[in-house]
Amino acid sequence: MTDSSGPDPLDPGTDVAVYVHWPYCAKICPYCDFNVVRDRGRTEEQAGLVAAILDDLQAQAALVGPRRLTSVFLGGGTPSLMPPEAVAAVLDRIHALFPANGPVETTLEANPTDAEAAHFTALARAGVNRLSLGVQSLDDAALRFLGRNHSAAEARRAIALAGAAFDRLSIDLIYARPDQSVADWTAELQAAIGLGFEHVSPYQLTIEPTTAFGRAAARGDWTPPDEDLAAALYETTQAVLDAAGFEAYEVSNHARGSAARSAHNIHVWRGGDYLGVGPGAHGRLTLDGFRTATIAQRRIADYVEGVAAGTPWSEREGMDWIEAAEERVLLGLRTVEGAPVEAFNALARLPQVHNLALDGFLTVQAGRVVVSSKGRLLLDSVLKALLT
Ligand SMILES: C[S@@+](CC[C@H](N)C(=O)[O-])C[C@H]1O[C@@H](n2cnc3c(N)ncnc32)[C@H](O)[C@@H]1O
Ligand code: SF4
Repeated sequence: MTDSSGPDPLDPGTDVAVYVHWPYCAKICPYCDFNVVRDRGRTEEQAGLVAAILDDLQAQAALVGPRRLTSVFLGGGTPSLMPPEAVAAVLDRIHALFPANGPVETTLEANPTDAEAAHFTALARAGVNRLSLGVQSLDDAALRFLGRNHSAAEARRAIALAGAAFDRLSIDLIYARPDQSVADWTAELQAAIGLGFEHVSPYQLTIEPTTAFGRAAARGDWTPPDEDLAAALYETTQAVLDAAGFEAYEVSNHARGSAARSAHNIHVWRGGDYLGVGPGAHGRLTLDGFRTATIAQRRIADYVEGVAAGTPWSEREGMDWIEAAEERVLLGLRTVEGAPVEAFNALARLPQVHNLALDGFLTVQAGRVVVSSKGRLLLDSVLKALLT
């Protein structure tokens, strides 16, 4: 990273990012355990949710006091289903509440259907300048397996339209699907790279027990790749993207050049403050010098009622030194920037850092602990050794 001067995990932040959660999806994917509901044209409920989001922003701005805006992320769910006027209203409110020094990275997550791609220009006009497109795969059979409501041809069209409509484009892909070979994945990834984008997030398919995939895998309907194949697919991902000029600046985030990195995610990984707005959104706020974790009510009706009553959160808890330092380590060690040595000191874990560095899993440079490429392959074990 060019700039390693992110906020200290235990220091009050002055900058703030905003995460807005839009929970509606046209169809619920069988692998997804995010806070989502079927869209089914609930226009009245959605108008109520937009009004609640605007009020919540206002209330949280009063709570945190004057701050400078770093970035906005509209995630979901499927915020590309939001009416562009609603997106404009939310962004206008954020900018009215938090001044910024310059252009603000404003990302929106989109599904690549033709119907949603038709709104890209209007979303760009509303103030979105970075699109995160959930392509997931460029293989029609895989898209059917993943329960997606778009084809590979639609995804290709959406990439081309998004490239023209937005300053910046990222795509999400899902690999380690059942029966996926290293050769298949290499070809798919190389085909994707040819479509032109500056940022890609390849995620290994995780089987969450509460999802349809969790139940199918438990019944033995199919089995995900074993550990060795999953590791080979991960290494292939790194090698193919690296050869194409994408740097893995975080375990699942690759950017072509440092300007293509996600400023919003970097702010969060550095332990910066962010408001979490919308049902189930998580936030981190420094209030009177204390780091505070917030989780908004998950159910839409509870959130809307909660905002009206001045209690949008199901949880609002102060984090102690240890919790703040642990979070900083967990997030920072996934990045090329690493985590500050002070966080390990706060956790009394400097001897473990030293041992892992001697074994080549970590390096310590300029006051920061960074996981080596050897360590990244075994990141879960490295984190376990450091945090337990
Ligand atoms: C919150 S989703 C929203 C994006 C958008 N609704 C979509 O589906 O395209 C963000 C990303 O998380 C990833 N994701 C969600 N569940 C996953 C799972 N179980 N395993 C791997 N990746 C997952 C997908 O790549 C998805 O694009
Ligand atoms: S993966 Fe995206 S579209 Fe599918 S249910 Fe989750 S948030 Fe919705």
